[in-house]
Amino acid sequence: MAPRKIIIDTDPGQDDAVAILLALASPEDVTVLGVTAVAGNVPLPLTQKNARIVCELAGKPATKVFAGCDAPLQRKLITAEHVHGKTGLDGPPMDDPTMPLQEQHGVDFIIDTLRAEPADTVTLCPLGPLTNIASAFQKAPDIVDKVQEIVLMGGGYFEQGNITPSAEFNIYVDPEAADIVMRCGRPITIMPLDVTHHALATRPRVDAFRAMGTRVGDMVAAWTDFFERFDKEKYGSEGAPLHDPTVIAYLIKPELFEGRHINVQIETQSELTLGATVADWWRVTDHAANATFMRQVDADGFFALLAERLARL
Ligand code: RIB
Ligand code: CA
Repeated sequence: MAPRKIIIDTDPGQDDAVAILLALASPEDVTVLGVTAVAGNVPLPLTQKNARIVCELAGKPATKVFAGCDAPLQRKLITAEHVHGKTGLDGPPMDDPTMPLQEQHGVDFIIDTLRAEPADTVTLCPLGPLTNIASAFQKAPDIVDKVQEIVLMGGGYFEQGNITPSAEFNIYVDPEAADIVMRCGRPITIMPLDVTHHALATRPRVDAFRAMGTRVGDMVAAWTDFFERFDKEKYGSEGAPLHDPTVIAYLIKPELFEGRHINVQIETQSELTLGATVADWWRVTDHAANATFMRQVDADGFFALLAERLARL
């Protein structure tokens, strides 16, 4: 089967970085048409810089990286330096990137690419707040029907929230954007905290990265060592939840995941539960199903795939 053409929309973030590395290490499965940075974990100047650092680390400096939106559609930007550090990629020392940032705005790249490529052949992979995706849909409604699938990391139902009691960070930062995406009518697959909190970079898994003896392995190990503090303190978990790489792993080995095709809506009105993903897991309403909401992951299989592919870089 031909590799899937994807656009990665991202706010690196250590876990975004691992997702980008996994994609660039898997040319037989995915063709990365471009990487569009969005403000999220850290402000846009840092996320676009970090995206280029990661592409260079992967040995793919020809990857097209674009800067997208620097703030949510309607709200003030909320960032997550408390999780990812001031640079967004805290952990190991890193050099500034030398590869160029593309001139074009990330939103215009998404629009032009979807207009240029045949319908149903481009998958959007948002790993951060959905501002770029929603902005592209608002600016060019004609592109929506051309999207093959949207595979995103965000939300939580049984796990509830990680930035508020009821909201996951990517959705909470721009709930209006998430609402636009959830209502777009195209196939959507969601990797929520219900899955990613079982994809934990435990000590043996981090040791396996370090044992690669490569710069990529060392960087991923250092990033997960840094990034795990927040979740260990908060959840007492065994390691950093590798949220974003689950999106790329799904494209490569969908059989690693299990979920349900259900109705998922976004809370945009209540201050108390703003950004909650209201997933009708038990199908208690007659609201039409609009997303495949994942709940199970074969964690050992996921980390085996990660180790195998990252060792290629
Ligand atoms: O809540 C986890 C998500 O928020 C991940 O995508 C992480 O990178 C941050 O963007
Ligand atoms: Ca992210």
